[in-house]
Amino acid sequence: MKFNNILVEKENGLAKIIINRPKKLNALNKETIEAISTAIEVLEEDASVKVLVITGSGEKAFVAGADISEFSNYSVDEGGALAKKGQEMLFDYIENLSKPVIAAVNGFALGGGLELAMACHFRIASENAKMGLPEVSLGVIPGYGGTQRLPQLVGKGKAMELIMTAGMISAEEAKVCGLVNHVVPLEALLPLAEKLANKIMRNSSVAMGAAIRAVNANFEDGVNGYEVEIAEFGECFGTDDFTEGTTAFLEKRKANFPGS
Ligand code: COA
Repeated sequence: MKFNNILVEKENGLAKIIINRPKKLNALNKETIEAISTAIEVLEEDASVKVLVITGSGEKAFVAGADISEFSNYSVDEGGALAKKGQEMLFDYIENLSKPVIAAVNGFALGGGLELAMACHFRIASENAKMGLPEVSLGVIPGYGGTQRLPQLVGKGKAMELIMTAGMISAEEAKVCGLVNHVVPLEALLPLAEKLANKIMRNSSVAMGAAIRAVNANFEDGVNGYEVEIAEFGECFGTDDFTEGTTAFLEKRKANFPGS
């Protein structure tokens, strides 16, 4: 897969999407958003890919935000359309993907960059990472899901403070408030992503997709997450992975999940 602003690497079931506009601190312009979305579509269909990692190229930025130069002249309608299209094409798409997506935050994750990391299923960060939603300092608000996902992850009060101050927090602070799960030196970030991905890959990919849908149901308006859990739980009993997982346990051997 060849794209202008991203690199895609695949090895041993893990696909890395590396956002690669280092001169613009990997800022998300339209072309980059489309490229990430297209790459994920391809990786979703690729049965050899079990886990995705999204990271930024270089040592300075994960993603320093949406590309401000692209929308500075937008009208009200164009602004609304930008947020809607971006959310549908990329941010909601990642959140609802049935394959696990880890954000490896390797530097600045600001605005749309933090929103991208928050759309992933969980986040790990390097010690130099800095995170924030600085949109109100530009006269706008987060538009790629930030006002919704930040309170889900850190609680309403902390989210309000971060959004209102437009400030940045360190990786350690992000860990304390639950925004990232692990903080490691930069050189250990991708090895940690690989280690976590390998652990995830040992498990049933079919059950993983069901678990993602059930957890996400908790945050959907008008949806009873417990009912979704019951339905997804029941569906698992009809899968080959369930037969293999339970049989392997009873036979005291490691499961070899067929993924169906
Ligand atoms: N959109 C467009 N371009 C961006 C960008 C963004 N969100 N973030 C950084 N860039 C560009 C800069 O304009 C600069 O380009 P140039 O060399 O052509 O002038 C280049 O990336 C390097 O950034 P620079 O600001 O010189 O680096 P720095 O180390 O001094 O500061 C930041 C780093 C992250 C603090 C600063 O770039 C910044 O505040 N970026 C915007 C963050 C933001 O508000 N994001 C939310 C957008 S909704």
